[in-house]
Amino acid sequence: MTSATIRADAGAVRVAWPDGDQADFPFLWLRDNCPSGFHPETRERQFDLLSVASDIRPASVAREGETLAVTWAADGHVSRFPVAWLRRHRPGRPAPDPAAVAPITWRGDGARTALPQADAAGLMADDARLRDWLVATKRLGLGLVTGIADGEAGSEALARRVGFLRETNFGVDFTVVSKPDPNNLAYTAERLPLHTDLPNQELAPGFQFLHCLANEAAGGGSLLCDGFAVAEDLRRSDPAAFDLLARVTVPFRFQDGEYDIRHRATVLRLDEAGAVAEVRFSPHLADSFDMPAAVVADYYAAYRRFMRLTRDPAYVLTLRLTGGEMMVFDNRRVLHGRDAFDPSTGHRHLHGFYVDRGEVDSRIRVLSRRV
Ligand code: OGA
Ligand code: ZN
Repeated sequence: MTSATIRADAGAVRVAWPDGDQADFPFLWLRDNCPSGFHPETRERQFDLLSVASDIRPASVAREGETLAVTWAADGHVSRFPVAWLRRHRPGRPAPDPAAVAPITWRGDGARTALPQADAAGLMADDARLRDWLVATKRLGLGLVTGIADGEAGSEALARRVGFLRETNFGVDFTVVSKPDPNNLAYTAERLPLHTDLPNQELAPGFQFLHCLANEAAGGGSLLCDGFAVAEDLRRSDPAAFDLLARVTVPFRFQDGEYDIRHRATVLRLDEAGAVAEVRFSPHLADSFDMPAAVVADYYAAYRRFMRLTRDPAYVLTLRLTGGEMMVFDNRRVLHGRDAFDPSTGHRHLHGFYVDRGEVDSRIRVLSRRV
């Protein structure tokens, strides 16, 4: 049977489950999470943390069936916690989250067969299929959609089914064709070396949905590279270079007649556990480095090392998209690029959207409730 005891010395209530597992719940944490403090419909917290003293303590704790009742000494308020809820929310352990998908890194063309691939109609019609494909796409940072029958409307409908489209200075959506007066190298027929899009934005766009409507010109193949794989390998092979890329910020900038959008950040961003959480890398949007002169040579060495790895066939996945296919990738992880193409030999037309990481996560969670 689940038991609960007040441990005044630790400032916590110790809950012990029948299987031997136990956890300490600090007094103030319990009061702050009392179910009575949340609006019954919105589920948002209404409890005012400053309405109680920081040294609040219980007078008693008691089991009431599957609930733990904590009676507070100061005002006699009773907090009732479902025991199962406490188990899922013990301090020091993140609550279960269907969108907490650990990345699996991949390297080179060998990853091709592992890529999640799904038919557009199935993703539109079937919640379970969309959920599974989103989870798999998030895990590798890359997934494919085939059979988009209805042109731009088809990929837009799918992107909107996942989440809000992220508008940028290129619009709510963007058309990648070679065109006169380009404001971006993507809108030429030039080779695009591996990059992440819009690192010059404070928050670089999350997932990119890049739909191929036609790819009939000579050239124009796609290149992809898992930036997490490159970064983790660099951490092992050249820790000093990794450290520079994770520590020294550099400026990124896009400018045209209407916009001048700049952001300063590191090429690699680590999460609080030290794992690589984000890659910002774009030779065409990197502004002039402005670190102290004494750091420049070492920084360039590290940056070139990273850049060289992103082009190493051991890391690069080559794909040739054809009309009706779409690649979806985490633009804050997976670098993408393309070979130059010859517009005189045929039409090449891609159409893209961005959907931020948080939208993808939300969709995974909500679909997981239903399936
Ligand atoms: C872009 C881009 C790739 C391609 O538009 O940012 O990288 O295949 N396009 O044209
Ligand atoms: Zn791009």
